[in-house]
Amino acid sequence: MANDLAKEVNSRRTFAIISHPDAGKTTLTEKLLLFGGAIRDAGTVKGKKTGKYATSDWMEIEKQRGISVTSSVMQFQYDDFRINILDTPGHQDFSEDTYRTLMAVDSAVMIIDSAKGIEEQTLKLFKVCKMRGIPIFTFINKLDRQGRQPLELLAEIEEVLDIETYPMNWPIGMGKEFYGIYDRYYKRIEQYRTDEASRFLPLDDDGEVTGDHPIKQTGLYDQALEEVMLLDEAGNEFSVEKLTEGEMTPVFFGSALTAFGVQTFLETYLKFAPSPQPRKSNLGEIEPASEGFSGFVFKIQANMNPAHRDRIAFVRICSGEFERGMSVTLARTGKQFKLSQSTQFLADDRSTVNKAVSGDIIGLYDTGTYQIGDSIAEGKKIIQYEKLPQFTPELFVKVTAKNVMKQKSFQKGIHQLVQEGAVQLFKTYRMEDYILGAVGQLQFEVFVHRMKNEYNSDVIMEPMGSKIARWIENDQIDESVSSQRSLLVKDRFDNPVFLFENDFALRWFMDKNPAIQLRDPMEID
Ligand code: G4P
Repeated sequence: MANDLAKEVNSRRTFAIISHPDAGKTTLTEKLLLFGGAIRDAGTVKGKKTGKYATSDWMEIEKQRGISVTSSVMQFQYDDFRINILDTPGHQDFSEDTYRTLMAVDSAVMIIDSAKGIEEQTLKLFKVCKMRGIPIFTFINKLDRQGRQPLELLAEIEEVLDIETYPMNWPIGMGKEFYGIYDRYYKRIEQYRTDEASRFLPLDDDGEVTGDHPIKQTGLYDQALEEVMLLDEAGNEFSVEKLTEGEMTPVFFGSALTAFGVQTFLETYLKFAPSPQPRKSNLGEIEPASEGFSGFVFKIQANMNPAHRDRIAFVRICSGEFERGMSVTLARTGKQFKLSQSTQFLADDRSTVNKAVSGDIIGLYDTGTYQIGDSIAEGKKIIQYEKLPQFTPELFVKVTAKNVMKQKSFQKGIHQLVQEGAVQLFKTYRMEDYILGAVGQLQFEVFVHRMKNEYNSDVIMEPMGSKIARWIENDQIDESVSSQRSLLVKDRFDNPVFLFENDFALRWFMDKNPAIQLRDPMEID
């Protein structure tokens, strides 16, 4: 029994893709699901052009926009592995949920557009992964197009992200003259646009293709070989330990659109990606293969179906096995109840979970029981997993009730939604005006929508634009240092926070007030 559980848990690989919009996340996800046989047609994951929506697009807003608001989970089988891909929403729907999803994974795949290099959203998501110290695998995409020089891209990753790189393979040409990849790990060349039978060319002991293969006539082969030699001599040495600690990222090149390099990537990923790891709790580290179900809520999606007003709490399982109808205790309240309903998320099918173990994500119907960060455990056990970190909001709005007579529902709604983690609440010092902070604009829109639909409260939002929020280490703070450009507010626990107009205002303030120690919750130590 225990062995069976350990075997199941060891087969799980749970990751998220971090990338900037348009780098190819949807395309790569689709190709991975195709390899796993989870979907039959490409185009199933994102239906924006065909008008057919993926199962993750429940919310009204999602339907109007044709985008997916919150992360969904896709599961597929490949060889002996059961893989969970947690979607991280981008574009305007970038939000705290995107960050929180990264708390529920064991590794991350970073996609970089070879023509663009590191982009803003990739950097933000990367920082969260780095904070957690999880392994990050890099896929440099769109090699079928002209992009930047691979060596330059590597240098950028190392410099901007401060992580060592180890190219697992190396491109031979690119764009119209893309011949394939030189695979350092499997010691072979994988040719682009050739039939399955002749796709792989083995390398001899000197790392060269044997005989006179036409690929050798291309100057690009020589160039790739030279660059690989340079990497062998002067590049980083591969270290599984560094990879596991999140200090080194293995780099792969490919083209998601043409499915080139995707399978090789997946197979190598599976060799090094960790199975579910122990997680810290009030009872110490909990082993993933230990008996007794437990997990934590990393995200709550409300109003998936406006007609039913249902919510779903997404739970990352951290130990044991989930069974329908099992009795659990919610650590925050000590309340015991039964988990009768659950859903499992697949790209195109919303089916009921049968077997879910550590590493898997389950969706539980929620009627207001859960908060983000809540932990549940089987039976009467009280297990509380580590608190989810607070993420630095970047966008702010002033918010008031449209109808001053309806303060009660306004207050109730705002406090519940803030507690749920939909947005962050701040107050000004004197007037106690309400200010909301979020990571992405859509969080405000969802907030307005939910205030109206769930609390019958119309709100007025006054945009304040983007600000740099910094918490303060020192306890005592003099209100007189507050100004328009460095506004002093309180968070919902009454901690003082400065909202700086821009980077310049932040630096100016630090210069003038060296005694005040500012803190960014998302800073990497
Ligand atoms: P995202 O989820 O990261 O936002 O990116 P997505 O996969 O939707 O890809 C963004 C665009 O880049 C799409 O083109 C997609 O076809 C293209 N793309 C993805 N991978 C590759 C690749 O390996 N090579 C090339 N050349 N293009 C790639 P689009 O025109 O915006 O959309 P669509 O009409 O293809 O849906």
